[in-house]
Amino acid sequence: MPITLTLTRPDDWHLHLRDGELLRRVVHDSARRFARAIIMPNLPVPVTTTELARHYRERILAAVPAECDFQPLMTLYLTDETSPAEIAAAQASGIIQGVKWYPAGATTNSQFGVSDVTRCHPALAAMESLGMPLLIHAETTDSRVDVFDCEAVFLDRQLVPVLRRFPGLRVVIEHVTTAQAVQFVRDASPHVGATITVHHLLLNRNALFEGGLRPHHYCRPVLKREQHRQAVLEAAISGHPRFFAGTDSAPHLRRDKESACGCAGIYTAHAALELYAEVFEQGSALERLEGFVSFHGPDFYGLPRNSTQITLEKEPWIVPNSILVGDDHLIPFRAGETVQWRLVD
Ligand code: NCD
Ligand code: ZN
Repeated sequence: MPITLTLTRPDDWHLHLRDGELLRRVVHDSARRFARAIIMPNLPVPVTTTELARHYRERILAAVPAECDFQPLMTLYLTDETSPAEIAAAQASGIIQGVKWYPAGATTNSQFGVSDVTRCHPALAAMESLGMPLLIHAETTDSRVDVFDCEAVFLDRQLVPVLRRFPGLRVVIEHVTTAQAVQFVRDASPHVGATITVHHLLLNRNALFEGGLRPHHYCRPVLKREQHRQAVLEAAISGHPRFFAGTDSAPHLRRDKESACGCAGIYTAHAALELYAEVFEQGSALERLEGFVSFHGPDFYGLPRNSTQITLEKEPWIVPNSILVGDDHLIPFRAGETVQWRLVD
């Protein structure tokens, strides 16, 4: 009999589901594992209003397989023009759990994002007073900054002034990748939390160049050197309540990844919970996995913890080489390689 692990059903606090055919293909992988997910708003036409979020939510729900119970927690895409009234409408809707700050140019479909955060001050003031969380892609877009330093520089130059001005603002630093970001969260007020992806826990930047250029390991924030991976790992397995799981599973078709200018994003939804279990087991911290994937997120967001459960067994399986989507493929994380834990349906 394989060893089994039963947990309160987890949530994914950072997820890209895309739209159309890709949405219909990927939502199943998340919905099998996670009860809820924070849905990123960076569609080609970004989700800048509650109205757009409502429609996107309906498309997601229509794509969820009947046997799954999955709740998309929607977010708005912050722009220089987002008004306090839009924030109030989002809060009143009950379907929106956060507003995402993409620095313009930082990542996929971020070109409509924030060019000058001082122009967002009215929206941020409304968020602070209503308790609406600000979810941050914390990388500077200053091209003079080394790509591996973009996160640390953003915290100093952009986030510190925002937190000074809006001390009551609830903030999630998304997908933290550096020792500096981990320390920032530890030192910050209880309003500041962070998500951690499974790929940043498993890989350091060598994985980008192993035997050649590896586009399927390219994401933003880019993988960092080993000492940073270790700092992020320590935070994840420490039991600290302001670090929680957010996969940042970000599917792109193969032709868009294996390209002269490949897209950033790693698809992990097909094995995310299993891989987090692997990480925690390797870190001798399996007993703290449930806090990280199932408790810290809802506690931070002020939502109830899930009441159902999920079971994993220690039974190795091999990830498919690719997943067919239309006339192309998605290359999943660990394609053709082994994952140690398996979901028990
Ligand atoms: C994300 C995407 O493709 O939407 N890509 C990524 O590398 N993580 C956007 C993001 O979260 O930066
Ligand atoms: Zn993301």
